[in-house]
Amino acid sequence: MNKKILGGGALLAALALVVTGCAGTSGDSGDSGGGTDDGPISVGFAQTGSESGWRSANTESMKTAFSEENGFDLTFNAADNDPAAQIAAVRSFINQGVDAIVIAPIVEDGWDDVLQEAADAGIPVILEDRTVTSSDELFASWVGLDFKKEGVTAGEWAAETFGDTPTNMVVLEGTTGSAPANDRAEGFAEAIEGTAITTLDSQTGNFTRADGKTVMEGFLQKYGSDIDLLYAHNDDMALGAIDAIEAAGLVPGVDIKIVSIDAVKDGMQALVDGKINYIVECNPLLGELAAGLVTDVLAGTDVDKAYYVEDQSFTQEQAAEVIDSRLY
Ligand code: AHR
Repeated sequence: MNKKILGGGALLAALALVVTGCAGTSGDSGDSGGGTDDGPISVGFAQTGSESGWRSANTESMKTAFSEENGFDLTFNAADNDPAAQIAAVRSFINQGVDAIVIAPIVEDGWDDVLQEAADAGIPVILEDRTVTSSDELFASWVGLDFKKEGVTAGEWAAETFGDTPTNMVVLEGTTGSAPANDRAEGFAEAIEGTAITTLDSQTGNFTRADGKTVMEGFLQKYGSDIDLLYAHNDDMALGAIDAIEAAGLVPGVDIKIVSIDAVKDGMQALVDGKINYIVECNPLLGELAAGLVTDVLAGTDVDKAYYVEDQSFTQEQAAEVIDSRLY
């Protein structure tokens, strides 16, 4: 852990472009390297799994940022969305004595013990993407998205689109207990309060295309063409639902309006094709920011506890304009 960091201050330059809400990292240059006099920085990254297009883009961004060329020795673990397996992976990083641990926590709860163990071992923990309910004294920093704001933005679109028209909605929730599922539900509910939108049903589709399809098939069997609106907590579940809606002889985007979150390539294509009506972005390209945080924390540079990356949102027309220039 007593490594002299050569590439400190990487975070500030990257953050200046996309992050709002916080400042306070020190550092001098835009050097993105993380190497030290003693060799590469060893980092254990505990990823959630590989549930979605968003997750693939996030994993790629992390692996690129924590590359050997950038001065890192990365141990990658994807826990297949099993919270116990993810905690076991973090424990194994602690036993290995890595220099730093990065976690994309599958669920918010249950982190106190293992985070305390990392602290006791003197290993700093950086969270990326999702948050935890543990005290923020147990981790050095977090970088990610404002999931509640994403839910509010999706809900505001629904409120503006349906206004006072009685509207039956079904919801495909993300992984139960995860920060994005909790916060996107809360934000959306706040935004549609006082409208004539009624929730017929709301179930988890685990952020996957397969489960989105299966759960939507169940909704269609139960409520048929009474469904006016689908709110999907991510694009992959919306895409699975689109298959189910088409198989039921209905037209997605027309018979059933769809609003989802992520803005990954396939989702944006479905938006351009008129099968989804509105998408709120969730930017997965967090690798450079997370690597900058690791470098700065190990260098002893002051960092804030939370860095929010800004999201956009897209109508069908806006999606058509930007789809070719999207990075994920
Ligand atoms: O935590 C971010 C969410 O996780 C994304 O919206 C979803 O697609 C992913 O799997």
